[in-house]
Amino acid sequence: MADYRHNLNTKEPIVNSESAPNPDTMADASADLPPTPDGGEGLMGLTNVEPSPVEETPAEFKEDYFPATEPQRTSTLGLGNHGPAYYLSRIQRYSSYAFTVFSSFHIANVSLIPLLTRSVPESNRYLLLTRPYYQSTLTEPLLVALPLLVHVSSGIALRLYRRRQTLRRHGAETTGDRKRIPWPSLSGTSALGYALVPLASFHVLTTRIMPLYMHGDNSMINLSYIAHGFHLYPIVSFAGFTALVGVGVWHVVWGAARWLDWVPSQVRDTDSRRHLRKKRRWYGINSVSALVAGVWLAGGLGIVGGVGR
Ligand code: HEM
Repeated sequence: MADYRHNLNTKEPIVNSESAPNPDTMADASADLPPTPDGGEGLMGLTNVEPSPVEETPAEFKEDYFPATEPQRTSTLGLGNHGPAYYLSRIQRYSSYAFTVFSSFHIANVSLIPLLTRSVPESNRYLLLTRPYYQSTLTEPLLVALPLLVHVSSGIALRLYRRRQTLRRHGAETTGDRKRIPWPSLSGTSALGYALVPLASFHVLTTRIMPLYMHGDNSMINLSYIAHGFHLYPIVSFAGFTALVGVGVWHVVWGAARWLDWVPSQVRDTDSRRHLRKKRRWYGINSVSALVAGVWLAGGLGIVGGVGR
């Protein structure tokens, strides 16, 4: 058998000629052997390979044991790869921020200022002062109409999307399957939101849309107009405004707490004092709601509506 070793200086193989095989005897022996892939050259066809330099890391160690993860792809607009639920809940959240700007102006004009001045005509002056900011052709759609439309419709779209996901996950095929699978649960805040839609719509209809058709413009709608409504229809006005303010304030305060991660269901399950924390949050949010609604009604019904005079 040939002795193949490398001469480290010349890198040439060293062949020990004493033990080299006799090509004639090898040819006889190879007649019984199956054909080799090197086309019958036998062992003599072996190629001499260059030793690999020690500094070079072997290929199998070059890469990590685990294949590298796919690089995070971003969508065309660079918005990331989130599902529809992510975007819909973000839209629902940010649209409520815009409406909060209007709500702050509104509570100041119809409740806080009347409470401070204790006079409807005096409060009207302040109302007229700030009205151009939220009732211009640009600001009213941007701060009120559009955010509200977007807020409610994104909430409905989110609900329909989650419903579709649940049906898909359960493999619902027939109408019977669909009926058996419950809809996504309706939180108290969402229920208040739906109750607020007809109440707020009626308020918009009577203070912004109807005067436009009846009088051609609604610049004369001010606190005196509301006070006149209270005088003509005391029970309906009292009940309607109480429901609007109560439902609206509870929805907005619980909704804001939800965005801030302050609602009881957002207390971490691992928290050792979670029962106490949940209770505190529940009382805290309801106390803030009662305080805001109380102040709003004191100014709106007490001063503007003239209730108790
Ligand atoms: C600045 C004020 C507001 C805030 C902070 C707010 C916040 C929220 C939040 C957090 C939700 C989701 C509740 C949940 O999924 O558990 C929600 C849903 C809803 N909001 Fe508001 N909201 C505001 C104003 C309004 C107004 C003025 C209306 C109606 C006129 C309204 C109507 C609704 C409706 C209908 C839903 C239910 C959507 C659904 O989940 O199916 N919101 N709101």
